[in-house]
Amino acid sequence: MKQRPFLSRQFGRSKALHALPFFFLCFLLQIAHAEEIKSPNSNLTLTFALQEGGVPTYKLTYKGRDVIKPSKLGLELTNTTSLTDGFTQTNATRRAIDESWQPVWGEVKTIRNHYNELTVTLAQAASSRTMKVRFRVFDDGLGFRYEFERQPKLDYFVIKEERTQFALAGDHKAFWLPGDYDTQEYSTVTSQLSEVRGKMKAAVTQNASQTTFSPTGLQTPLMLKSKDGLYINIHEAALIDYSCMSLELDDKNFVLESHLTPDARGDKGYIQTPATSPWRTVIVSDKAGDILESKLVLNLNEPTKYKDTSWIKPVKYVGVWWEMITGKSSWSYTNLENIKLDSVDYSKTKPNGTHGANTAHVKEYIDFAAKHGFDAVLVEGWNTGWEDWFGKSKDYVFDFVTAYPDFDVQELHRYAASKNVKIIMHHETSGSVRNYERHLDKAYQFMVDNGYNAVKSGYVGDIIPRGEHHYGQWLNNHYLYTITKAADYKIMVNAHEAVRPTGLARTYPNLIGNEAARGTEYESFGGNNADHTTILPFTRLIGGPMDYTPGIFQTRVSAYNPQNTSFVHSTLARQLALYVTMYSPLQMAADLPETYNKFLDAFQFIKDVAVDWDDTKVLEAEPGDYITIARKAKGKSSWFVGSTCDENGRTSSINLNFLDPGLSYVATVYADGKNAHYEKNPQAYAIRTVKVTNKTKLKQLCAPGGGYAISIVPSGTAR
Ligand code: NOJ
Ligand code: CA
Repeated sequence: MKQRPFLSRQFGRSKALHALPFFFLCFLLQIAHAEEIKSPNSNLTLTFALQEGGVPTYKLTYKGRDVIKPSKLGLELTNTTSLTDGFTQTNATRRAIDESWQPVWGEVKTIRNHYNELTVTLAQAASSRTMKVRFRVFDDGLGFRYEFERQPKLDYFVIKEERTQFALAGDHKAFWLPGDYDTQEYSTVTSQLSEVRGKMKAAVTQNASQTTFSPTGLQTPLMLKSKDGLYINIHEAALIDYSCMSLELDDKNFVLESHLTPDARGDKGYIQTPATSPWRTVIVSDKAGDILESKLVLNLNEPTKYKDTSWIKPVKYVGVWWEMITGKSSWSYTNLENIKLDSVDYSKTKPNGTHGANTAHVKEYIDFAAKHGFDAVLVEGWNTGWEDWFGKSKDYVFDFVTAYPDFDVQELHRYAASKNVKIIMHHETSGSVRNYERHLDKAYQFMVDNGYNAVKSGYVGDIIPRGEHHYGQWLNNHYLYTITKAADYKIMVNAHEAVRPTGLARTYPNLIGNEAARGTEYESFGGNNADHTTILPFTRLIGGPMDYTPGIFQTRVSAYNPQNTSFVHSTLARQLALYVTMYSPLQMAADLPETYNKFLDAFQFIKDVAVDWDDTKVLEAEPGDYITIARKAKGKSSWFVGSTCDENGRTSSINLNFLDPGLSYVATVYADGKNAHYEKNPQAYAIRTVKVTNKTKLKQLCAPGGGYAISIVPSGTAR
């Protein structure tokens, strides 16, 4: 039965008496009360209704089509009346906001925050409590959250489970990851929702060490496509002091329900009022590109808390990293095994001869960075403890301040500064968060004293305190604590294995990067699917930038380590495209200098490409198949285009009508060469230059697992 909701925006609450026939209808439909609100362009309609028994529900339509069918709202609490039913509506307020803001770094210069808001206040007589639900309807989707005011009967509560539903209109195609409390480093599975259960086991075992919470549990951002061409993305925004949400799928009715990450006791959240939940987000459009261009998640986060952001700068970097990932060199200095960190005098132990982070080698990277205009060099494996860590779950492994004897902190500080290059600090916490927090102040002070302004942190392994999960409330509070504490020291943070981003970088822009997905490193651990980078921007990147570490030109890993038979599932040309399609203010050129020196013509693109942007246009997009994006460099007239496609290859057709009509340009196209193929012939590429204007249309062949990159630089004023 379809509901015909009360258009209270038109009527207003004071005129509610005129709507008596409506109330009669509601009575027939057993809806206690309903409120409706539309997006500014009227394409989306959100309806809130209390159903029989005072159960709060919402539904969402897009151009008259169901996106979310009537779905329940609420929270189940521990040892007290749950906030799921028995509600009456005591108030509804509305607001329209249209404002613009400028991100500290980003894909566009200015972001418009334009929405209509409805806030309903619900009273639960049985418990003498109230709860609000705030809905914001944008042209590109919906955000809503729960709000709990401080009140005598609700000053503190424990969440047993959040019961937010997303009832989908059918058996959509889904781009999904198995539900997991501790990793997102899975290959995405593309299937109908009805196939999730059957495919779950295989999806989990491809990443053997991991466990999932149920045969139909899914992670967010979850990308969906309906049979009639609606693109729907479900995620969350502003995840603060709360557990990360996954989704449990009812695969008969296609209803998704929130599933929060538990703590060590199995509880899902400790809430002290006043408090709000994170926003639950539904981005929707009939154009795939709109999902990529959406700023909804950022808009639902608070403006930056920092007064001075001048110290936060996008970074292009190289690093002593891929050589360890491939197994060519090692993080550890010795071959010791089963040692206890405190009992080792490293200056007296025998080096293993493969330690990457030694002073002379780091200097080579600094020279390379300086020569080619990179901002920074990441150095991993510089500090003591790596021998003690691998595969073990120990409380105390790293102290984050003691260097191996062959890594001269002061000399490298001096040398890097003399070349105007920064060294990026590395803090592998080994999952021992307690240990990290104990050392944090000293570790950050050590960075300041030695000229570091950015840290890559990591959380590999089981979390200590034991039983806590990477995505639980306790850990989420920890990640934010490290970011705000880093800000006190003017340090930028790139956190790996931390919770997936939810737009918090708007508020805390020194959170310059995250991993939280299967990155390039997996190309050395068996490989990523060839279509991986046609999906990630629709899933993981919806929450924020990823330190994907592209730029691998030597796609055969065995060239560095004969034991390693892995290969990069991408052509060389597509590696260039990723600097544009995988937005991040922090971009690594991940391959080794010795390889870049062999391909200096292709390397030129990585040198030229910007890391901060004034404008972005999605030119072509279909999740799982292809993405082509153009971006305008911050404060400049040059544009960069990147295109990535799946294992089938394709012809890309783009229109350069985004260029300034008053200018003529030279475009350098870095494309797949003849017979290029991500597996059989990945290094075939061809570079050509063409004169272009805003009237130019380009066609470009993309090889299987391939793509192309273009830099477009003004050559003069057009006639
Ligand atoms: C996993 C990270 O993703 C990788 O980049 C890092 O090198 C290792 N952990 C070691 O910390
Ligand atoms: Ca495909």
